[in-house]
Amino acid sequence: MSTFARRLLAWYRRNARTFPWRGHPDSYAVWVSEIMLQQTRVETVIPYFNRWMVRFPTIKRLSEASERDILNLWEGLGYYSRVRNLHKAAKIVIEKYDGQLPRDLDALRQLPGIGRYTVGAIASMAFGMGAPTLDGNIRRVLARVFDISAPADSSSGEKALWDLAAEYLPKGKAGDYNQALMDLGATICLPKNPHCPICPVIELCEARAKGIQDQRPVLKPAKKIPHYVLAAAVIVKRGRVLLAKRPSKGLLGGLWEFPNGKVDSDPAKRLSNVLRADYQLKVRGNDALGVIHHAYSHFKVSVHVFQCEFVSMPKNQNLDWVKLGDLKNFPMGKVDRQIDQLLH
Ligand code: ADE
Repeated sequence: MSTFARRLLAWYRRNARTFPWRGHPDSYAVWVSEIMLQQTRVETVIPYFNRWMVRFPTIKRLSEASERDILNLWEGLGYYSRVRNLHKAAKIVIEKYDGQLPRDLDALRQLPGIGRYTVGAIASMAFGMGAPTLDGNIRRVLARVFDISAPADSSSGEKALWDLAAEYLPKGKAGDYNQALMDLGATICLPKNPHCPICPVIELCEARAKGIQDQRPVLKPAKKIPHYVLAAAVIVKRGRVLLAKRPSKGLLGGLWEFPNGKVDSDPAKRLSNVLRADYQLKVRGNDALGVIHHAYSHFKVSVHVFQCEFVSMPKNQNLDWVKLGDLKNFPMGKVDRQIDQLLH
């Protein structure tokens, strides 16, 4: 075993963080946690994971759940395609693999929502297979220890890092090794002001030796993210409010929202036009209720919210009158849940 792996594993034996999915005997739990942990902090994930495992303790139970139920339980975690893929994959596992996650890298990789990272994580942590994985924390640790100067988000940088993730993998200990790298990245090898003096691999760290640890990993210059102005309508009629269901593919797929549209300027004036264009929905009036700002991964929005009066709408299965008291049962993204909260 390499000195690097040996030191890392020794450090991990004393310093591993405790999480509900660690040491869990069920590969399904590892799978669920790894999907939730993509793009999301562990502190946020823990309560969601615990609720999920109570509600859907087995792949079978998940496969039988409704889309509404899985989206409700996921609400607030964001990146909702993750949960729709998890649901689809659960159905495939029931049909094709008799309800057990396959212990096979290629078969895992073919399941919806399981990419190279998740295959490596599940195979090593749940099945004890010798598979590498590479998340943001591992990427940062490896880029510093081995001083990788190619941008980590370029194809040459990616390849160099995946190669390194595989190169030092200790036989029979891949799960602990991968999680040791994650924990080192999360607690010591931090993005800013890493705690180098207490790092178990400080003597091996090439970036630290050159004093350039804060310049690793190299990333391509960030693109400026666009900012859109939207207008949304709260349309109430006899104790019910009109909601629209988003298409199941794409951003916030399958979630419910207050009818809204993009307006470049003058949201109060443009609202009725965008609702007519996007939903063939006619409304009157525009009493301002507030403005909600939100950042998605690739753009920001400011949503101007107005109370409007209903005039007419087409017969449209994606528009539904929902009792005010029932809004909580309709899965929504953060912006729309905030609008819901403006109404109470
Ligand atoms: N981030 C993603 N997967 C993780 C794991 N198994 N342990 C800690 N952090 C993680």
